[in-house]
Amino acid sequence: MRLEGKVAIVTGGARGIGEAIVRDFVAEGASVVIADLLETEGNALATELQEMGYDVYFHKTDVSSEDSIKALRNFTLGTFSKLDVVCNNAAINIPGAVTELSEDTWTRTMDVNVKSQFLMGKHTVPLMQKQGKGSIINMGSANSFVAEPRLSAYVASKGAILMLTRAMALDYAKDNIRVNCICPGWVDTTLNDAHAELYGGRDVVLQDLSSIQPIGRAINPSEIAKVATFLASDDSSCMTGSPVIADGGITAGA
Ligand SMILES: NC(=O)c1ccc[n+]([C@@H]2O[C@H](COP(=O)([O-])OP(=O)(O)OC[C@H]3O[C@@H](n4cnc5c(N)ncnc54)[C@H](O)[C@@H]3O)[C@@H](O)[C@H]2O)c1
Repeated sequence: MRLEGKVAIVTGGARGIGEAIVRDFVAEGASVVIADLLETEGNALATELQEMGYDVYFHKTDVSSEDSIKALRNFTLGTFSKLDVVCNNAAINIPGAVTELSEDTWTRTMDVNVKSQFLMGKHTVPLMQKQGKGSIINMGSANSFVAEPRLSAYVASKGAILMLTRAMALDYAKDNIRVNCICPGWVDTTLNDAHAELYGGRDVVLQDLSSIQPIGRAINPSEIAKVATFLASDDSSCMTGSPVIADGGITAGA
């Protein structure tokens, strides 16, 4: 088991890719705190996994709030007395060109997608420094590298995540804290519902996925989870500041 003895926080872990990461982390031996706004889904997932014998808790968290992130850190420390892995996975995606987006949508997108990763770093890196080790995994996107029409706030946030990852990797390499990001392509999750409407809806997108994603199918959340587990584990010990592109070929021809 590649994460035996490690304690991890997974933000946005109540559904979608985050849920798959939680499932893979516990299966690989980690103790996990699921941090999400979705209480019903988060508690149900934690209960299901506890009943299977895994060491996992749900903690209601708004990743855009510093107080909420401090409470999450304190809960994790109070429960497990340490923290080895932070997976910053929570995000929102509200489509629109800049002339279509409200200032509130822009600010909310940046707060949930980017400020959250800054705040998680601010409040968890000191623990990892004391422990002498840590792995931070930020969820980027193929949109960290390529833009798309009418997706400005999301694309800008994912570009920022790539550079925040690199900046943090430089700052904390000396502390043995690795900071990497995963850049997925199209994964069939709730996040994409509004995005898919730009192309005629989810069914249309899935039928014609090869036009945007060369492998011609949606990526399964569990496939992204495997990448997260690799980055969380000591198998990736020489990697920091790396975007791991898991995009079914989207950026290969860009
Ligand atoms: N689905 C894709 O095709 C795709 C592609 C590239 C990158 N990603 C990235 O993968 C990550 C997971 O996305 P997903 O597709 O599983 O989406 P999702 O909508 O299924 O899951 C996102 C989770 O984040 C949580 N969340 C949202 N705002 C929050 C907040 N303020 N505080 C705490 N939790 C909050 C949601 O409740 C949800 O559980 C995101 O960073 C997304 O940008 C997804």
